[in-house]
Amino acid sequence: MASIDTLTLPLDQTSAADLAASGLEYARVDADGDGFRPFQRAVARGFLGGESTDDEAENARTTLRTRRLTAVYDRRGVEPEVPVGTIDSWASELTTSPGRTTALWSISAVTVAPTHRRRGIARSMIGGELRTAAAAGFAVAGLTVTEATIYGRWGFSPAAWASDVEIDTGRARWTGPTAPGRLDFVPRDAVVQRLSAVHERVRVQRPGSVPGWDGRWRGVAGLAPGDKSAEKVRAVSYRDADGDETGILVYTIDERDDFSSHDLDVRAIFAVDGEASAALWRFAIEHDLVGRVKAWLQPAVPPVQWMVADRRAVKATLTDHHWLRILDVPGALTARRYAAGLDLVLRVTDPLGFAAGAWRLHVGADGEAEVAAVDGDPAADVELTVGALGSILLGGVRPTELAQTGLVSGAVEALADLDRTFAPESTPLLDIWY
Ligand SMILES: CC(C)(COP(=O)(O)OP(=O)(O)OC[C@H]1O[C@@H](n2cnc3c(N)ncnc32)[C@H](O)[C@@H]1OP(=O)(O)O)[C@@H](O)C(=O)NCCC(=O)NCCS
Repeated sequence: MASIDTLTLPLDQTSAADLAASGLEYARVDADGDGFRPFQRAVARGFLGGESTDDEAENARTTLRTRRLTAVYDRRGVEPEVPVGTIDSWASELTTSPGRTTALWSISAVTVAPTHRRRGIARSMIGGELRTAAAAGFAVAGLTVTEATIYGRWGFSPAAWASDVEIDTGRARWTGPTAPGRLDFVPRDAVVQRLSAVHERVRVQRPGSVPGWDGRWRGVAGLAPGDKSAEKVRAVSYRDADGDETGILVYTIDERDDFSSHDLDVRAIFAVDGEASAALWRFAIEHDLVGRVKAWLQPAVPPVQWMVADRRAVKATLTDHHWLRILDVPGALTARRYAAGLDLVLRVTDPLGFAAGAWRLHVGADGEAEVAAVDGDPAADVELTVGALGSILLGGVRPTELAQTGLVSGAVEALADLDRTFAPESTPLLDIWY
């Protein structure tokens, strides 16, 4: 799909009519117009944040200028210009197989004012996004969630998982490889560009990943206004023996009472290969005066567990992280490479209709899929919900595991074939929030 300017797409008229029936107005917000500050206030309030300063608002504007901002207004309110509902979206890219990506309709900033909750405003806004995305040709929508209870009803489901990691450095003891390259501190003003460069190389190889953006990297680098830890941010990069920068670690040291046992909080650790990963984790674990290393959004089984004497010194707490919603079955299923050939009929149930139907999935010996709608009411080899299809899309969970839960059903052989075909080349991971 050619790159698309989501800012020019029309407002969804179904949602506009539904909201109008409740006396509410559905409207686009221009990041450079008067509606931006109230929009931003509403988002901050929705996520329980404080009022932003002018600097913080300007910083947010830089990112949000490229996004499609949509708001819901209750014009009878005391502050009619402050939305009671907010959502933002943009065209991103989802890595589906190493070196291969597809267009992703990314959604963020979903908030409804506490005074207006549970009246269907979120339902209208999310429905509006999905219809707009589907009409524009996006096969997949995605988001990261604050609560796991909200988005399943709209067909989103976890497709990539991530671990929060906590390492007791006293127990861990490095046993991993010694990297032959070198570590250097990165000057503050170079962190954004170098984070972005390493992350770009990492994310295109990792199913489940999306690109970062300047505002995200400025935040990691401690350059966003209002960052109370900004002065503590440090970064080191790893260059291999050929001088290629293949890894970067951004961290702060959080002081604890025991001066010999501070926390090292990882803000980002991106490594193109195992060598860079080993170098950076070793740096963190063996850092003087550090008793604990904390990192977020790491692989489900973090590689560092294999590189220390006591793997239980590395505690990993798993959570669902990247939620996907399939809007177009042929578009989504042909977006990746598969591990084995296959020919069967899938029946997908989807209360919102986008993915519903029977689909013949043929995967050739080259791992490429062809998908066609099957008319009538054919016998299906496998039946599954649209959420289950989103969850197996990148191979983050096996169809046979979901069959244990009733979300997928079919003959044992068909499910085993599906398992083999959907096995990922690399375990899906999303290493940022969006
Ligand atoms: C989550 C939030 C956006 C929901 O908005 P809302 O307008 O109250 O939601 P709706 O009235 O459209 O509810 C639609 C459905 O979702 C359910 N729902 C809404 N919020 C929910 C929550 N936090 N947990 C579980 N279910 C929720 C409703 O009960 C309703 O269920 P139904 O399909 O059975 O009728 C709102 O509560 C909010 O702003 N929360 C704080 C910010 C936040 O967490 N945003 C999500 C970011 S990922």
